[in-house]
Amino acid sequence: MGPWHVNLSIIGCGFIGATHSHALRALRRAGHTDAVVATTWDLDPARARRFASAHVGCRPAADLDEALDGVDAVWVCTPTSSHLEVVEAAAARRLAVFCEKPLATDLAGAERLAGVLEATGVPSQVGLVLRHAPVFLRLKEALGEPGFGRPMAAVLRDDQFFPIQGQYASTWRADVEVAGGGALIEHSIHDLDVLAWLLGEVVEVEAGTANFAGHPGIEDVASARLTHRSGAVSTLISLWHRILSRPSGRRLEVFCEDRLLWLEEDQVGPLHVEWSDGSERRGPVPAFGQLAASLPVRADWQESLAVYASADLAFLRAVEEGRPPSPAVSEALVAHRLVDAIYRSSSTGRKVALR
Ligand SMILES: NC(=O)c1ccc[n+]([C@@H]2O[C@H](COP(=O)([O-])OP(=O)(O)OC[C@H]3O[C@@H](n4cnc5c(N)ncnc54)[C@H](O)[C@@H]3O)[C@@H](O)[C@H]2O)c1
Repeated sequence: MGPWHVNLSIIGCGFIGATHSHALRALRRAGHTDAVVATTWDLDPARARRFASAHVGCRPAADLDEALDGVDAVWVCTPTSSHLEVVEAAAARRLAVFCEKPLATDLAGAERLAGVLEATGVPSQVGLVLRHAPVFLRLKEALGEPGFGRPMAAVLRDDQFFPIQGQYASTWRADVEVAGGGALIEHSIHDLDVLAWLLGEVVEVEAGTANFAGHPGIEDVASARLTHRSGAVSTLISLWHRILSRPSGRRLEVFCEDRLLWLEEDQVGPLHVEWSDGSERRGPVPAFGQLAASLPVRADWQESLAVYASADLAFLRAVEEGRPPSPAVSEALVAHRLVDAIYRSSSTGRKVALR
């Protein structure tokens, strides 16, 4: 059987919509998928038109209903507060749904969105893309290797400039009604997802937040200490600053009993591993390099686009083969519960236990 011929729609033609649009176009042109971007929709019609012009036969829709008519799958790339309305419309038509993170502006909204998808049983995947980034896949794989000892502690620093400038050509991230909060929910939901994925279930959090820039409800510093059921502890510092030379970066150190693993390039890597009498650097698995090299885009862009292309391709293949896509909404809910617990700990000054 050849690749699944799927017509899809991109809803929200901004920053991350553009990345998926480029990734999907490159995947098709390289012959990895038969998926076609057939429609686009954005509240700004000029954006929908511009996106449509990048795909052969694609039409910019006049509204959401028209965008979803006749397609099989949808990429939900609007700002966070409008994910639910798009997901509801898509699920009512039984379309496969790729929904960007965060699912919603708070835990109740995320649970509602997950409920809509679960009730209709449509296949879905969440844009928690670090799980498809080669350096995190290497780290996950390494933590299961014999001889490393048990993971004991992790330190994760996530920093970026306040994302209402530069490559982020929109200001909604300073509006709590649309974003739900600041650096923690908007950016570090990725970090909480990977910390729970790598080190296992979190049973307690203790956290604090600060707001230097002064946008109401938008914290630009969050610090959290997570206790994992295994006994391991992890700490997260997440911040939005004004250092425009730093668009987005993460440094993660994981100490196991017999190995230190660390990364400071959060997509491709390498992963560094150090032990009592040696050290090594581990790059991405060869399949990732092959995928990146096959993408018909500028050479200096192939690897970072391939991270998103990997996530998009994994979703298309899982749907085609009838497997559950990953990360699933149930996994995104785990990260949302952590975000919620951290905000509660911060506002009460108390530790919060997770059931
Ligand atoms: N996974 C990732 O790495 C990643 C990266 C960036 C953003 N995101 C997430 O993607 C979402 C979008 O972020 P962005 O940076 O692309 O924002 P953006 O502002 O650049 O783009 C959003 C687009 O949606 C349009 N829009 C707004 N409301 C709409 C609606 N109701 N219907 C149709 N179009 C609408 C806007 O006009 C805009 O063109 C957010 O939830 C964000 O958290 C994820």
